[in-house]
Amino acid sequence: MASKERLFNPTVLLIIIMSSLWGSSAALDTLKQGDVLNSSQYLVSAKQRFTLGFFSLTSDYDDNKSDSYLGIWFTNYEQNRSVWIANRNRPFSSDSRAFLTFDHQGKLTINSSGFGVNSNGSIGRRLWESFDDPTDTLLPGMKLGVNHETGRNWSLTSWLAQNDPASGAFTLGWEPKTRRLVMKRRGVPYWSSGLQVSSSKNVSLFEYIHPTKGQDYIINTDAEGQYFTYSLDPEFDSLDQERSAWQLQYWGPIMDRSISIMKMNFCSGYGMEAEGCETWNQPECRLMGGQTFEQKSGSFTRMGPDGLPQLARGVFDNRTTIGPADCRALCWNNCDCLGYNGDEGTRCLYWEGNFTFDPDDGRSRSILKYVLTKEDPSNKDDKGNKKWIAPVIVTAILVLFLGTFGLWRRYLRRVDVEGSEEKQLLELTTPDRLLDADELEKDGNARHNIKVFSFACIAAATNNFTPETKLGEGGFGPVYKVCF
Ligand SMILES: *[C@@H]1O[C@H](CO)[C@@H](O)[C@H](O)[C@H]1NC(C)=O
Ligand SMILES: *[C@@H]1O[C@H](CO)[C@@H](O)[C@H](O)[C@H]1NC(C)=O
Ligand SMILES: *[C@@H]1O[C@H](CO)[C@@H](O)[C@H](O)[C@H]1NC(C)=O
Ligand SMILES: *[C@@H]1O[C@H](CO)[C@@H](O)[C@H](O)[C@H]1NC(C)=O
Ligand SMILES: *[C@@H]1O[C@H](CO)[C@@H](O)[C@H](O)[C@H]1NC(C)=O
Ligand SMILES: *[C@@H]1O[C@H](CO)[C@@H](O)[C@H](O)[C@H]1NC(C)=O
Ligand SMILES: *[C@@H]1O[C@H](CO)[C@@H](O)[C@H](O)[C@H]1NC(C)=O
Ligand SMILES: *[C@@H]1O[C@H](CO)[C@@H](O)[C@H](O)[C@H]1NC(C)=O
Ligand SMILES: *[C@@H]1O[C@H](CO)[C@@H](O)[C@H](O)[C@H]1NC(C)=O
Repeated sequence: MASKERLFNPTVLLIIIMSSLWGSSAALDTLKQGDVLNSSQYLVSAKQRFTLGFFSLTSDYDDNKSDSYLGIWFTNYEQNRSVWIANRNRPFSSDSRAFLTFDHQGKLTINSSGFGVNSNGSIGRRLWESFDDPTDTLLPGMKLGVNHETGRNWSLTSWLAQNDPASGAFTLGWEPKTRRLVMKRRGVPYWSSGLQVSSSKNVSLFEYIHPTKGQDYIINTDAEGQYFTYSLDPEFDSLDQERSAWQLQYWGPIMDRSISIMKMNFCSGYGMEAEGCETWNQPECRLMGGQTFEQKSGSFTRMGPDGLPQLARGVFDNRTTIGPADCRALCWNNCDCLGYNGDEGTRCLYWEGNFTFDPDDGRSRSILKYVLTKEDPSNKDDKGNKKWIAPVIVTAILVLFLGTFGLWRRYLRRVDVEGSEEKQLLELTTPDRLLDADELEKDGNARHNIKVFSFACIAAATNNFTPETKLGEGGFGPVYKVCF
């Protein structure tokens, strides 16, 4: 029973908030009727696991703007990343003083934020719980599904972007007819858990969900409706296990403490991949090329009029209601789009037109881009890791060849130069050729750095080799001094 108590702890937390009528408990985890929680106060659950309070996030498009929310997070874990937010789509400016008020009529409100819960009911009944109003996180014991009696659907909706908890592109819910979890991106089926593959006792496994040790998946069908939930196996008891939570990420996957519970991180929708990815209508241009997005460092350029590459201007969609997943779809569905900026914020910068992508070494601090490449995704995985081998071998052979060729050329040239010098000297000393010496002089000077002089010129300069101009004798013969 200890495990059950742990499972439903967050419920307990908020039940406590609502249930001062049931009697008092410790001041720290309870807000009584008439109490007010201000922005620097927290409620901490009895076992210290969860904290409820106000927190702020800096806007990702305006450093001076900061939005405030009321949320619940694991105490001292993951920078207080919240598992539940009361006012995700109606933040208030963090410099205004906000209060969570539990008034004498039983109304729980944050002033001016649109968040309000009426607890107008009878004693002893659960009036409202945060579990009925999920954000992007499924905690053990929370439900995904439908209740026909109340007409309630429990589903998760991802954040919009890394720093923006507003309702984003992905939703995750339970489909009672097909009995599977279905994720949608902007309303279009994106991924599903696949069918139940086994059911021992009440515990299920699904085709496309990594079975996680210590988690039991439960499908509950009754007269009221049908829902999916999971519970933690008390045998795998640990602090880490206690922080289990399925979080639907703003870029698609469902992660539990940084491990994806899905077998797939990205779905592209054209049926190349199995593992639960759905297929949907694709633009013709993308299908034919078998294109995929690859994360790369570099920039889009085009040849300028001066023959130098110029940075290309991207197209900027400044809507703050679109996130990274929307930007990806925007680029994919635009046949002229070549890639988009891979920052994790709202709004979208992409490139379209006649540009080329110049990769760089990745040392520049620029944001990585998702670039469309014309690669067949079906052989990407097996060839991807060895793609570098062919170019490296070709380069090595080329370098070796060019090196050898260069050395050989240099050798030939030296032989050639020596040969031509010899020839010229021979010509110089051959009386028949003396008449052509002027020509050779011009020619020789033009082609080499060797100064060539005609015999007549030297004879004149040395005054017909008079002994006065003779400096001495060396191995090659007499040396004369001349002045030009
Ligand atoms: C919140 O209330 C506490 C206790 O009444 C007080 O000390 C604190 O200054 C208040 N903080 C704000 C931001 O009003
Ligand atoms: C933020 O505030 C500073 C000064 O307080 C100002 O210089 C800057 O332009 C502001 N930035 C934006 C994005 O408004
Ligand atoms: C996290 O929450 C605690 C209260 O539980 C607070 O004292 C702390 O400053 C918060 N940390 C961050 C990084 O917001
Ligand atoms: C809440 O009410 C107080 C005064 O009671 C006010 O100062 C504050 O700005 C209000 N907060 C919001 C978010 O409107
Ligand atoms: C509270 O309940 C009473 C009767 O049950 C009803 O008349 C009233 O409208 C309810 N108030 C709210 C705010 O729901
Ligand atoms: C719940 O989902 C069903 C279909 O799954 C839909 O017809 C119904 O309108 C939804 N109800 C609410 C309250 O969202
Ligand atoms: C398993 O199913 C049985 C009967 O169908 C039920 O009595 C029991 O409570 C269920 N156990 C869990 C953990 O849901
Ligand atoms: C977005 O761009 C339009 C014009 O292209 C401009 O009128 C609008 O103010 C911009 N919005 C923001 C939030 O920058
Ligand atoms: C794209 O640019 C290249 C040179 O940068 C040019 O040769 C080609 O004609 C251009 N294509 C189109 C469709 O403009």
